Amino acid sequence: MNINYHKNEENHNPIFANIFALDGKIALITGGGSGIGYEIADCMAMAGATVIITGRRELPLKEATGKLGKNVHYIVNDVTELDKLEGLVAEIESRFGTIDILVNNAGINMKKPALEVTDEDFSRIIHTNLSAVFALTRAVANGMVARQSGAILMISSMAAYYGIDRVVAYAASKSGVEGMVKVLASEFSKFNVRINAIAPGFIETSMMKTAMSSDPDRMNRALNRTPMAKFGKPKDIGWAAVFLASEGASYITGASLPVDGGNSIGF
Ligand code: NAI
Repeated sequence: MNINYHKNEENHNPIFANIFALDGKIALITGGGSGIGYEIADCMAMAGATVIITGRRELPLKEATGKLGKNVHYIVNDVTELDKLEGLVAEIESRFGTIDILVNNAGINMKKPALEVTDEDFSRIIHTNLSAVFALTRAVANGMVARQSGAILMISSMAAYYGIDRVVAYAASKSGVEGMVKVLASEFSKFNVRINAIAPGFIETSMMKTAMSSDPDRMNRALNRTPMAKFGKPKDIGWAAVFLASEGASYITGASLPVDGGNSIGF
């Protein structure tokens, strides 16, 4: 068969570009003032979405939205204050419109040997990375289910895929997120609401640098089992998030997508 790969003009179909576009969508991204959340916001805004980022402190959010442009807005919100999350959703929906995309990105890490982790330490990580993720997902999904439309993304971790020492609470929280994705996908699919996780490998952000600085052994182990032999950039997660939120991923739900340069399958 003679396939002509160069018939671009003739073959180019605007559906190809549009299927990955987020034009007219409203996206809420928690912890969007820095790191991975900031880049997801940038990628989603470039894809056409109106983006609302949240975080605990106003100044970094203000600076971030200043750089991200007119389609990105901020609201100060601490995801750990569970009783304020329904109010956050109501505020966004009255100011910007109903939420089409939720990215549960805000998260915290703690590196400590398991025997030194106190109950308070453990609860703090679980509260931010798991309880708050559930509470906000429930608040947003309520409307999505009623509207029969929506895409929810969780940010998981390699710590939910294999054993990494000294992150017991973090690994428990991210493993919980992975379980939540499967349950919610099975409950929400009949309402046309999709829910997926992205499992980033080792991505160059301040969180990763804090975990790796003063621990060159850990850094080398992470790199050595990454077949692509480099750390990821926050934008790598941003583009994957655009894809999973788009119509192009309309038959994908309940999945956890590693974006990790092969780290999760590395030897
Ligand atoms: P980061 O520390 O740069 O960003 C985390 C963001 O969450 C910050 O903007 C922070 O202000 C916000 N945040 C924390 N607690 C919050 C709260 N209570 N309320 C509102 N916002 C809050 O870290 P990074 O690396 O960008 O992390 C983003 C997500 O990616 C996290 O869920 C993290 O667990 C996950 N992740 C990161 C990896 C990496 O290599 N950087 C690897 C795997 C997962």
